[in-house]
Amino acid sequence: MNFFKRFQGRTLVLFTLAVTICFTAIACGGGGGSQTQASIGIPPELVVDYIHSVAEADRTAYTKHVVNRLKTLEGKPKEAGVVPAEATEAWQQANGVPLPAQMFRLGAELASEKGTFTYGLISPWNINDSQAPKGEFESAGMQQVVDTGEPYKAEREIAGQKYYSAIYPDKAIAEACVTCHNEHPIHKERYPDKVFKLNDVMGGVVINLPLT
Ligand code: HEC
Repeated sequence: MNFFKRFQGRTLVLFTLAVTICFTAIACGGGGGSQTQASIGIPPELVVDYIHSVAEADRTAYTKHVVNRLKTLEGKPKEAGVVPAEATEAWQQANGVPLPAQMFRLGAELASEKGTFTYGLISPWNINDSQAPKGEFESAGMQQVVDTGEPYKAEREIAGQKYYSAIYPDKAIAEACVTCHNEHPIHKERYPDKVFKLNDVMGGVVINLPLT
């Protein structure tokens, strides 16, 4: 009788354990399954938002916490600078560090090598010729972003390939953005009437996500 009771007790414990394992397996299996489904189902407008968040955060952090701490910016001393180095367009020749836009492009080039998606900077007041808005999507989209300060998103075709593309406002988040652009010789020559102020939209971050 005693043995029978003990046996019953053990069976119950084993049974409970088995049920728990089963439930965990189902829950985990189910969880894994729905996770896969979710990743397949993330809409492209959200994916471009994620890519933009990371790219923009890196750019802001680089400008605020690296460029702003250097003692020299394009040959001019910076009062708040504590690191004896210079941020300059000719960083390779001058032994300096890249400007925020150049740093952004260096990262974009590495990311694009993988061939999954591309991103870059454009502006209607571009200093670098290769960063002018190209085609109908970028020209119309960039204008809308400048007018509204909001992102512009749509599908487009580039060389026969379908993309989901987005243009996000690139704003003057630091005084350095404004002063450097306003005083740049090419900016002064091309856009003498365009004087940027803090928080102005200075251009756009374009992200192209292939839809196949
Ligand atoms: C010390 C000078 C300097 C600073 C600081 C600077 N820029 Fe630039 N920026 C440039 C130059 C020069 C270029 C063009 C060089 C290139 O991209 O090859 C450029 C490029 C750009 C472009 C691409 C369009 C173009 O003009 O070719 C955008 C948009 C831009 N900058 C916005 C910003 C913003 C926003 C900030 C602040 C977060 C900033 N810049 C900080 C000098 C500067």
